[in-house]
Amino acid sequence: MLLILLGAPGAGKGTQGSLLSERLGIPKIATGDILRLAVREGTPLGLEAKRFMDAGELVPDEVILGLVREALAGAPQGAILDGFPRNTAQAEALRDILAESGRAVDAVVALEVPVDAIVERMGGRRTDPVTGAVYHLVHNPPPAEVAERCVLRPDDQEETVRHRLAVYEASTRPLIDFYERAGVPVHRVDGNRPIDQVQDEILQRLGR
Ligand code: AP5
Ligand code: MG
Repeated sequence: MLLILLGAPGAGKGTQGSLLSERLGIPKIATGDILRLAVREGTPLGLEAKRFMDAGELVPDEVILGLVREALAGAPQGAILDGFPRNTAQAEALRDILAESGRAVDAVVALEVPVDAIVERMGGRRTDPVTGAVYHLVHNPPPAEVAERCVLRPDDQEETVRHRLAVYEASTRPLIDFYERAGVPVHRVDGNRPIDQVQDEILQRLGR
């Protein structure tokens, strides 16, 4: 199963992707997580990516495609893609990379959440820098033993969030059409409900 999670910043791709990964027993490939790890480790990739991420801009396609090609090679049984593809060029490249091993995208889940809810979610989001786990101060609080080390993401200030939303509208939302035209099943799911309800609907739509 090769599944793409589409959705605006804060729509819940990471949250739902981790749950689905456990449930379906296939890895989650999250380009944002890979990039944040590289930034933390100060690798050349991290140094290059950081200025784009902090500004809420997309990191150049050639950087991302190298990462994804490697991650997919390590996931022959399938994967959940979170945060990739992000524009038409990436979607076309993904199709070509998968075709090399006779694979294709099986389904797309598009999480839909209104802007006000997104801005509230980002303000309350906290990430555990050790495990990468994502929490929310109100909707999904971190366990007491990790709460102190959890941090706000540098690109979660309201102004940067609004810019990321504009980038999503311009570059990423058109992928819903792209996949519908390609005949890939696209499941539009209302992401503005409790986490477990969203998860249940995704599983149901995927026939699991
Ligand atoms: P990336 O890390 O992919 O960020 P994003 O797309 O902006 O999405 P987020 O991670 O912010 O949100 P999410 O949908 O995962 O929501 P979450 O589950 O955390 O990308 C970051 C940057 O990296 C980009 O700006 C770009 O620079 C670069 N990049 C990454 N991929 C790239 C690519 N392919 N090409 C080029 N550049 C790339 O949930 C959000 C919050 O809400 C959390 O606090 C969570 O606990 C809470 N929450 C989740 N679900 C619910 C719910 N149902 N109810 C209430 N609260 C909820
Ligand atoms: Mg995420």
